[in-house]
Amino acid sequence: MIPKSHNDEHNAPLVIAIDGPAASGKSTIGEAVARRFGFLYFDTGAMYRAVTQAALARHIPVEDEAQVTRLAETLHIDVTPPTVADGRQYTVLVEGEDVTWELRSPAVDDHVSVVSAYPGVRAAMLIQQRRIGLAGRVVMVGRDIGTVVMPEAPLKIYLDASPEERARRRYRELVQKQQDVDYDAVLASMKMRDAIDSGRETAPLRAAADAVTIQTDGMSIEQVVEAVAELARSRLHLDPDRERHPS
Ligand code: CDP
Repeated sequence: MIPKSHNDEHNAPLVIAIDGPAASGKSTIGEAVARRFGFLYFDTGAMYRAVTQAALARHIPVEDEAQVTRLAETLHIDVTPPTVADGRQYTVLVEGEDVTWELRSPAVDDHVSVVSAYPGVRAAMLIQQRRIGLAGRVVMVGRDIGTVVMPEAPLKIYLDASPEERARRRYRELVQKQQDVDYDAVLASMKMRDAIDSGRETAPLRAAADAVTIQTDGMSIEQVVEAVAELARSRLHLDPDRERHPS
């Protein structure tokens, strides 16, 4: 039997939308759930990061909305399965150049929310994101997947955690990558990004009315994955016998 890509009842594409603030666990949970069901994992934040990194590399001031928007409209961004086994979740190519790790720099962290608040930048990314979503069998993570990008998704999750818990997670991640960081700076940068992401006019960060919110403080990764998988099985009518479990 060919695995289906759409929900038979409503003919909605099989999409699991995961939104939430920085370091709420979207990427870890999203990737694990995608692997479990054999879905594509698509991190939409990588696209906003790619535009930001390209602007910084080209010395385009991020405050220059017109120039940044033009860049977003013309930039060739490819997000592919990992091309190098170095712990990456995917590879990002900008104009054919591998920028995957550059996208995680503190400079990109500090400027990405300004770039992603520009309506023209969002419009350019939306077209590409919907194309991928409509193909189905995808776990999409971001800030506005359930509200704007794929409002027809049969399952929407809003992952949350306190700012301190999220800053601890991001801090640990950066220390593991041998980056020289300070917890207070990580917390401040994250709070700043949250404020811009939630306060912007176009597609602000918020849970869709029909999203299931999971407050993840004190929950293990496995517990969150199980909770999402359980919802996915029932909402998307997925066959438990076809699931892949980590060995
Ligand atoms: O990994 P983390 O949650 O820290 O960030 P990310 O998901 O890579 O997103 C980086 C930034 O891109 C966010 O702070 C938002 O400003 C923006 N973003 C967005 O506006 N809409 C999305 N669907 C995804 C990300």
